[in-house]
Amino acid sequence: MSFEYTPENLTKLQEMVGRYRVKRAALLPALNLAQQQLGYISPEVEDYVAGLLNVPVVDVHEVVTFYTLYKQRPSGRHHIRLCRNISCWLRGSESIEGYLNQSLGAGEGEVSQDGRFSWEKVECLGACEIAPMLQLDDDYYGSLTREKVEEILKNVKD
Ligand code: FES
Repeated sequence: MSFEYTPENLTKLQEMVGRYRVKRAALLPALNLAQQQLGYISPEVEDYVAGLLNVPVVDVHEVVTFYTLYKQRPSGRHHIRLCRNISCWLRGSESIEGYLNQSLGAGEGEVSQDGRFSWEKVECLGACEIAPMLQLDDDYYGSLTREKVEEILKNVKD
């Protein structure tokens, strides 16, 4: 499936590119924009962005696979990032992982049947003081228990 920015997003990209001395400096914002539009970064997006910014596609792929903020497959309308790093692990992130698996009926990287949620384990999100923690869309939630996660998911609209 091919990919192109919407006309509005193409205008936004051109504005971004204009802020930098070299086009490739706009790579991260260009990928952010594509992910906002499509929901993830597909190989077609990598090709498209590489062409627009005159960057080898392998360089784009390296960036996409380095940063966990880039999703490489379709996700639910709400995406959960569960920290699996040492502080969160010591304080019970594995129990939360089990709860997500069970309550969403979807394993890591899968989308729940209603299309609402997907989840993945990630490295430290810099909020160790509230371990175990997760990020749901743009918000952080910490000091998690299974009950607390159940409440958080219940309160998500749509
Ligand atoms: Fe989980 Fe740092 S170890 S936020």
